Amino acid sequence: MTASEPSPTNDRPPSWTPPDPLPDGLRTRRLVIRAYQPGDARALFEAIDRSRASLLPWLPWAATQHLNSQQSAESIDLFRRVAAERPMRPEHNAVFGFVLGIFRADDGALVGGTGFNRIVHDSADAELGYWLAADARGRGYCTEAVGALIDWGLRPARDGGWGLRRVRIFAAAANVASCAVPRRLGLREEARFVRDRWVPGHGWCDTIGWGVTVDEPMPRAIGSDAMPRSGR
Ligand SMILES: CC(C)(COP(=O)(O)OP(=O)(O)OC[C@H]1O[C@@H](n2cnc3c(N)ncnc32)[C@H](O)[C@@H]1OP(=O)(O)O)[C@@H](O)C(=O)NCCC(=O)NCCS
Repeated sequence: MTASEPSPTNDRPPSWTPPDPLPDGLRTRRLVIRAYQPGDARALFEAIDRSRASLLPWLPWAATQHLNSQQSAESIDLFRRVAAERPMRPEHNAVFGFVLGIFRADDGALVGGTGFNRIVHDSADAELGYWLAADARGRGYCTEAVGALIDWGLRPARDGGWGLRRVRIFAAAANVASCAVPRRLGLREEARFVRDRWVPGHGWCDTIGWGVTVDEPMPRAIGSDAMPRSGR
């Protein structure tokens, strides 16, 4: 420890608690990122269904979930119940997250999904996941969404954010398009887990991890404006 570093304290900061009320959503230059509503079920199913082959093998849930609109409606219902229960019990650490849709701002089309997943309450640390419909790729939507989500996630709850301390992203090294997103944002590469996941068609793959903490400048952050909050 150098003289300039603060001395460690035994007073552990309180665990993260979900903001109350939960932030409604986020508007970026071209996108709206918000929780799914029941009326989004058909659009969610259709976006996944026409992209299913390219979501696999990276997102195994695409093999068994959202196989019809009814299943998407049930998933949305589950996402909404999880958010409403505001999971706080210790056993929910790293289990629950907040699932969000990515919508194009100009026409409201559902173009993908994201969310703060695997939230570890004790360290106020969440994992960001993301996918885009196949016909919405190649326009920078995912990079725009993820940059804004990191900014939103690390923003204090009193300023409309989620009050997280750390955000992390993991992707298979073989998933070139996914790895390109944190790299494009200039995130710090923090970890490489060697041959730790089996990916159909790719075999045992490395996983790469990126991270950013609240006390460091967000590299090349994409600006975002939280929508006004109202109870959900
Ligand atoms: C991961 C995934 C979301 C990335 O999609 P993507 O379209 O490559 O990412 P972006 O939306 O950020 O777009 C970036 C591309 O748009 C181009 N682009 C065009 N306009 C742009 C802009 N205004 N800003 C940034 N990039 C732009 C970029 O050059 C880049 O293209 P390139 O890869 O040919 O260089 C997508 O491949 C996907 O859904 N994959 C399947 C699911 C998955 O793997 N999820 C991640 C699991 S870890």
